[in-house]
Amino acid sequence: MQGPTIPYRPGRIDKDASACTPDGRLPDAAQGTDHLRNIFYRMGFNDQEIVALAGAHALGRCHTDRSGFDGPWTFSPTVLTNDYYTLLLNEKWHIRKWDGPKQYQDKTKGLMMLPADYALIQDKAMRPWVEKYAKDNDLFFKDFAAVVNKLFELGVPFNPDTKPIIFKSSNA
Ligand code: HEM
Repeated sequence: MQGPTIPYRPGRIDKDASACTPDGRLPDAAQGTDHLRNIFYRMGFNDQEIVALAGAHALGRCHTDRSGFDGPWTFSPTVLTNDYYTLLLNEKWHIRKWDGPKQYQDKTKGLMMLPADYALIQDKAMRPWVEKYAKDNDLFFKDFAAVVNKLFELGVPFNPDTKPIIFKSSNA
């Protein structure tokens, strides 16, 4: 996806379904930054890391038959870029008029932002990080690689000698 190299260490093990966390512990896209802090601080992430993680929404899209939300965040949803931040700051976002959950829409009507995305630019402490990542793709890549690695490794019972694996991209 043309993003930064993210080291990977195997070690997360399968567990029985009874070990699943109860519902309601994932972030709720309909809520704002108080809620995001409740969810992510618990796992040891700070405001900068919450904003860096949200940049993953450069990829993929929302599906009405899954979350109920609809559409992609960027025009290139298979390529990791800092477009999520530039679009969030530079587009005019309007509440979409539709028979669905509250979400924002750009003027082309081709892109969307969740209430939880839009909340990042309304939050005094988080907005400066959106601005930094919008200006500096290298900084976003560096911080994203670090924080996504932290997320992937949370709670993994590694053997102490587990070395990271670096997957080389085929066109590098
Ligand atoms: C900040 C809190 C977050 C909220 C509220 C949130 C919410 C959502 C929602 C509602 C969807 C749409 C699901 C669907 O309809 O298929 C989605 C998709 C997605 N999210 Fe998040 N998310 C958050 C954080 C993250 C993080 C931390 C990552 C990864 C580092 C991530 C990566 C993605 C990706 C790649 C998709 C697209 C999936 C697809 O195309 O099927 N999100 N997110």
